[in-house]
Amino acid sequence: MTATKGLEGIVAATSSISSIHDGVLAYRGINIDDLAERASFEETAYLLWYGKLPTQTQLAFLQQQLSDYAAIPGPLLAQLKLFPSDANTMAVLRTAVSALALYDENADDISRESNQIKAIKLQAQIPTIIAAFARIREGKEPLAPLQNVSIAHNFLYMMTGEEPDVVAVKALDQALVLHADHELNASTFSARVTIATLSDIYSGITAAIGTLKGPLHGGANEAVMKMLSEIGSLDNVESYILNKIANREKIMGFGHRVYKNGDPRAKHLQKMSRQLGLLKGDSTLFEMSSRIEELVTGQKGLRPNVDFYSASVYTMLGIPSDLFTPIFAISRLSGWSAHILEQLDDNRIIRPRAEYTGLINQKYIPIDLR
Ligand code: ACO
Repeated sequence: MTATKGLEGIVAATSSISSIHDGVLAYRGINIDDLAERASFEETAYLLWYGKLPTQTQLAFLQQQLSDYAAIPGPLLAQLKLFPSDANTMAVLRTAVSALALYDENADDISRESNQIKAIKLQAQIPTIIAAFARIREGKEPLAPLQNVSIAHNFLYMMTGEEPDVVAVKALDQALVLHADHELNASTFSARVTIATLSDIYSGITAAIGTLKGPLHGGANEAVMKMLSEIGSLDNVESYILNKIANREKIMGFGHRVYKNGDPRAKHLQKMSRQLGLLKGDSTLFEMSSRIEELVTGQKGLRPNVDFYSASVYTMLGIPSDLFTPIFAISRLSGWSAHILEQLDDNRIIRPRAEYTGLINQKYIPIDLR
């Protein structure tokens, strides 16, 4: 038995949800370039859950369900008010999603029908949790979700209390489409491992949120913004990046386990970043990001991943940097839950082996002789 570090190159499951072939990412066989340009996030979530694009009636029904379920239980809202205002937002989300199970009398029903409803409920409630905490920590009252608007629109409204402009809604909606699923990424794998023990969907999603939090995965988008803030101006980019490269430090938002010739999602976020800069009349963040890309790709041959340009996009949408990874979770909930449904459709516990590298044939030494 020989282990592969980080399970690189190991095919650990079959799945018909999303695929990566020759650098092309597709959801249910549809190229994400097409979806990013033309589909809404709600259509995309439907596609991931049900395996096909919705008709107008099916989409309207899903949107109604999302509106109906978007409020969160009163006791959970009360708990959010007790959390420290400087708490890590991913820790808040992880705790709140785990707590949601306590208010769902069907939490342990793992039938497909029940889990599908819970996936839609979680899709509706997670944006409400994040926006509520964002307001509570600023001493503001959380806002009730609007009815019959998109998740992107509702999230921006619940965060700011203002009607978001159409450009911001479109940009966030497109970012949600691009982050929705990604084959057997680390957090999806966590969700599948957890659910394969026949645990409940809340446990699977809680495990996935904890996994997404790390800076080598979803947490990289926040780390990119931290880097942009540290750099401060276009003039400082070169010395900062060359110094990092010389010290063999990781540059967040670059590199990928699967894509070695570029992440197909990055170009959409790059375009969005350029457009938002032009619209705002301030392209500093886009120009700094472009210069970083030029240097890192030129010097290290590494290309930007999905997290790199999303940092400047979200900042230009007025979103605080510690909400970037929770926004990733809003989107990826659709993929996680689709994988949970798929895993349970044909389940077997996930239990690989480890290659033992420790001592052998050791004798027990009684404690008084040690
Ligand atoms: N900056 C500098 N060097 C890098 C980077 C980076 N961002 N990424 C990879 N490298 C180098 C490594 O140091 C390593 O070099 P070496 O062979 O000389 O030691 C080589 O490229 C291979 O990299 P690994 O870390 O072994 O690649 P792995 O497939 O294990 O990791 C990962 C992929 C985690 C994405 C890595 O590229 C990374 O840490 N990137 C920065 C964090 C990041 O942006 N994460 C988001 C990924 S996308 C997502 O999860 C949504």
